[in-house]
Amino acid sequence: MSPKVLITGAAGYIGGSILADFLSHCDTLFKKENISAAVRSEKQAEAISKLGINVFQLDLSDESAVVESLLRHDISIVIQCTTCINPAPALNLITALGKRREANGGETYFVHTSGLSAFFASCGWPHGEIKDTDSVFDLEKEAADSFPVRQTDVAIIEHAQSREVTSFLVFPTLVYGRGKGEWNKLSVQLPAYVRASISDKVVHKFADNTRVSAIHISDLTAFYRQLVKKILRKETLPSGKEGYYFALAHDFNWLEALDQMAVSLKSRGLLDSSKTQIWPSDEVAGASLKFPAQYVQALWNSGAKAIAENKHKLGWVPAWDEKKFLESMDEEIQDVLEFGERKSSFNDSVANLAQSYPNQSSIES
Ligand SMILES: NC(=O)c1ccc[n+]([C@@H]2O[C@H](COP(=O)([O-])OP(=O)(O)OC[C@H]3O[C@@H](n4cnc5c(N)ncnc54)[C@H](OP(=O)(O)O)[C@@H]3O)[C@@H](O)[C@H]2O)c1
Repeated sequence: MSPKVLITGAAGYIGGSILADFLSHCDTLFKKENISAAVRSEKQAEAISKLGINVFQLDLSDESAVVESLLRHDISIVIQCTTCINPAPALNLITALGKRREANGGETYFVHTSGLSAFFASCGWPHGEIKDTDSVFDLEKEAADSFPVRQTDVAIIEHAQSREVTSFLVFPTLVYGRGKGEWNKLSVQLPAYVRASISDKVVHKFADNTRVSAIHISDLTAFYRQLVKKILRKETLPSGKEGYYFALAHDFNWLEALDQMAVSLKSRGLLDSSKTQIWPSDEVAGASLKFPAQYVQALWNSGAKAIAENKHKLGWVPAWDEKKFLESMDEEIQDVLEFGERKSSFNDSVANLAQSYPNQSSIES
């Protein structure tokens, strides 16, 4: 029987785009009737049901609902795109896959979307440069207590191992470009920056010229597609404690990107001048970007010294590079003007996190 896949966070930016990508590759991947999507609200379920696929409307923190839905629909592959901070959705999904494996005996696979911030010095990563082929699990476990994303990664791998579910962790970095999903089409960092600059009537920068990694959403969905193709072909891939996949396409300098943003905003008549200014403080930046001040450095002024090796095992080659990224800055502005606010409760989760970890500069990205 053909395997059935569930994409969670399917109303989100990444999950929605993966769903759209998989639906446009039904000839080489899953047949449409074998694709299911999980969303949280009724309105999201209505929007995504129009695609003619199976939609589960559920809170993934509810273990019994998750287990019941996955078993009822005989799901054996899950692509998890909801949260990389709260471990409950991932652990419940793995529990369900474990029960499905016990019931039917076949292989089950869990692909989790984590965040490269797990390896930012500003988020307590003590080891500096890291390759995804290093002993990342052991190093994350050593430093898990100081950062919830690392704690969640470790918990997922250990839980999957105990339930004999094959796990893969994908670590996107800053993702940009218009999402292809039916609900939230906007990412986090660049749209928030465009909105703040329009409202402040100036583009602010941090004083350092931080170089960070990035990936276009279409390259990221191709990354998941390649991974899933290999899973379906039962090719041997690093998994479990070795199953770390850094999804890095190219780097860019924040100062250069923000200069480009200022030029584009000025040419659209949204700024009087393309001259940029330095943020007076993280508090001012946080108020303007609508994020807790303690997270602005992690989100907009941090990068990991991360080297992606496992991507080569997927045969994945990104189509976007630094030049194309800088040239696309005006499209980022267009998307914000067209879609307005991000349609997701992500900012609420960050605000809750800020209350739970008042002294920590950590973020899901
Ligand atoms: N975008 C980036 O640049 C980026 C980069 C690296 C890593 N990531 C990580 O990738 C993941 C997805 O990011 P995204 O940008 O696609 O976020 P998003 O647009 O906010 O999508 C997440 C989706 O998951 C849903 N969700 C959250 N908790 C849930 C739960 N308990 N039960 C059911 N649904 C739940 C949200 O529902 P609501 O619509 O109700 O909020 C939302 O639709 C996050 O963990 C993020 O930190 C993102």
